[in-house]
Formats: sequence, structure tokens, C-alpha cells
Amino acid sequence: MLPSDVARAPRPRLGAVCVAQSFSAAIDISPKKPAFAAGGRRVVLSVRFAHNLRISKTGPIRPRKAQRSATAAPHEQPTDRRLGRIVRLLMEHATVIVSGTKIAEEISSNRSEVWRLIQQLRGLGVDVAGHPATGYQLRAVPDLLLPEILRPLLRGTTFEANLRHFYRIGSTNTAAMAAAAEAAPEGSVFLAEEQTTGRGRGSNSWQSPRSSGIYCSAILRPSLPPFDALVLSLAAGLAVQAAIRQVDSRVNPDLKWPNDVLIEGKKVCGILTEMNAEATRVRYVVVGIGINVNQASFPKELSATSLRLVTGSEWSRVELAAALLKSLDREYRELIENPEARVSILRRFAANSSWVTGKEVRIEEPGPGLEGVTAGLDERGFLLLRTARGTQTVLSGTVREK
Ligand code: BTN
Repeated sequence: MLPSDVARAPRPRLGAVCVAQSFSAAIDISPKKPAFAAGGRRVVLSVRFAHNLRISKTGPIRPRKAQRSATAAPHEQPTDRRLGRIVRLLMEHATVIVSGTKIAEEISSNRSEVWRLIQQLRGLGVDVAGHPATGYQLRAVPDLLLPEILRPLLRGTTFEANLRHFYRIGSTNTAAMAAAAEAAPEGSVFLAEEQTTGRGRGSNSWQSPRSSGIYCSAILRPSLPPFDALVLSLAAGLAVQAAIRQVDSRVNPDLKWPNDVLIEGKKVCGILTEMNAEATRVRYVVVGIGINVNQASFPKELSATSLRLVTGSEWSRVELAAALLKSLDREYRELIENPEARVSILRRFAANSSWVTGKEVRIEEPGPGLEGVTAGLDERGFLLLRTARGTQTVLSGTVREK
């Protein structure tokens, strides 16, 4: 896609004015990024629909040294599958002590290797009782997003087959984008216990402390034109909202256009949707979702919260991640199979958001910004804003309450 194509890209409906001068404000045509030779085109279009709102420009919580590598490093190896198999076996025999020999058989190894792996699991916070002489037993079901734990909960979904788990990674979105470029199948999901360079919108970071949140990126390959992809991002917000409500119906999350989920006005989830597309066709989309689940506190300036802080008790990340992926699966299938789905997503997003209609807001953009009252979504999911100079269409920017 050439810059001139961007200028020719579909414009908002008549009478509406883009807040950004053109779609190029929302699109990053980045020749620096690796070019993928699909259909002979070598130019990569990378679009980010994301909002990091209050979590902006804050210092990373991790020491600089640990943040350095965004590309694959030794600690970014996927989790040793044998760890998941041991946990699964111990979970299936939760009431008995499982001998080292039985575990060794399960993973086709020997007892000293089992001991080493059990030590690794303990280091990762899994509470395992026992030792080589007696055998092992789980003291508590671990709340780890291991494929062996999640997969049985995702039967029949797009996401069941290709779950990839990392104890520690730079960014699940970065890894998923790289894997998608290498032809990873639709439905591949990257999950991490911890991200060292979790990414939010633009240059913002996403705090991703170990085993406190859900850090998850899914690869999708919808046959949509690129400018319809915002709807996918809105659908992901609906999926997060539904998953939280499903786990605890007392919690009522709000959707803030385009990519945030808030509770009591504070950010509990951010969504970073990135895609690789030709001018007329999406090659792949990575939907990255970060949910603050069990964090006990946040720096005040972040205006963030966690589900634990809101409800006063710990949440099962496994239960929530499974609910999320099932809900995302439902939204996605509907979107690609049912021509009516797009309208339904826009309608439901508006109905479930206190921000989309009748809210006095300021749009923060590079440039002078804009003020007005929100007036719904247009047919592509962009925000309409009633201003002193008429109704304008907001293509990007940070929405703040006035
Ligand atoms: C935002 O609000 O700016 C979006 C935050 C998105 C964070 C998630 S965590 C999983 C995935 N990997 C990343 O590096 N970012 C997204």
C-alpha cells in the first residue's frame, strides 16, 4: 500500500470531519518492519487501534536491564511442555501422592529430571508437596495459564489447538505478530505469566507483573478490508466485558471507546490490536489483551484498578482467561460468519458503554485536540462527536472526560 492509497482510503460519512487529517494519522506505514512477501507485495501496513489512556508514559516497573530484549531471548522460550504435563497429572490425581516414577513415565524421563522440573515449578509459585523418596502432591490448584490447564476449558473453540505459554516474555503481541508473519495458524494464542516489555498504545508500556494479570495475544486471519478492522477491536472489548461479568455478575465493567475496559472509572483492561494488511485485505490481526486481575495496588497516577481490588478477593486467572477466549471466539465467529454481526457489535458496544453517547469529552491528539459531546459510532465504529463546529468523526486519540 502506498501513502497515496491511504489518502484515497474511505472517508468518514459526508458532513463529518476527521479529527486526524487523514487515515494516515491512525496508520503507521512502517517500511522498517519486516516485509512479508504475500501476493508479491513487500510493503507492510501496520495499524494500531489502541488506547492506553491513563497508563501513559509511566516508568516501567521492571528494572531497565530486564526490559531490554523485545526480541526472542533465552528466557522467551515457550514453557517446557513437561511442566504442564506434570501439573496436569498432579491435578488429575489431586487426592493422592504421585510417585516420581509415575511422573517420570508420563514425561518419558527419569526421576532426577522429575525432581529438577518439580523444583522449577516451585520456583514458579506452584505449591507442590513431597520429595523424590515419597512422591509429589499439589497443595493447591495452580492458577497458571498453562495449555494443559486451559485447553480442556476451550474445547470446540478456534483457540483450543494452538496455545503457547511463556513464563516470561518481552511482549505476547510482538511474539504473536512475528509468529503470524511466519504463517502461524489462525487461532494461535500467546499467553505469558509475565511480560518484560508489555506494550500499550504508541510508546506506552503495559505493566505486566508475574502471574497477576492476563497477558494474552490471539492471531486472527479474518477476510475483512483493513478499514473494517476497528470492529474487531470493539468486539474484543465486548468479549472482555462479557467474560468479567460471567465470572462475577456483580462487577459491571464499562467500555471506553475504542479499546479500554474501565471499572469505577479506572482502567482494568487494555486492548492492543495490530494488523498486517494489503490495501484491500487483512493478512492477519493480533488482538492483544491485558487484564489487571490480582494486582494488589497501582501507583496512584495510573488511575488503574484490578478485579481483585474491585471485588476484594482473588480471581482465578484460569477461569477468566477461559471465559475470555470463549467469548472472543463467539464474537469472532459471529463477525466472520454473519453479515449482520458488524451492526450488532456496534449496537452492543454503544449500549454497553457510558462513553459512546452523551458524554462531554476532550479528545487528546497530537495537535489542538477537540471537545464536544459524544454522539454514537459511525458505521465503521469510529466515534462521532458533536462539537461547536458540527459533528466530527474521531478516528484516533485519547478520549478523556471533561
Ligand atoms: C493499551 O491500553 O494501551 C493496550 C494495552 C495492551 C496490553 C496487552 S498485554 C498482552 C499484549 N501484549 C502486549 O505487549 N500488549 C498487549
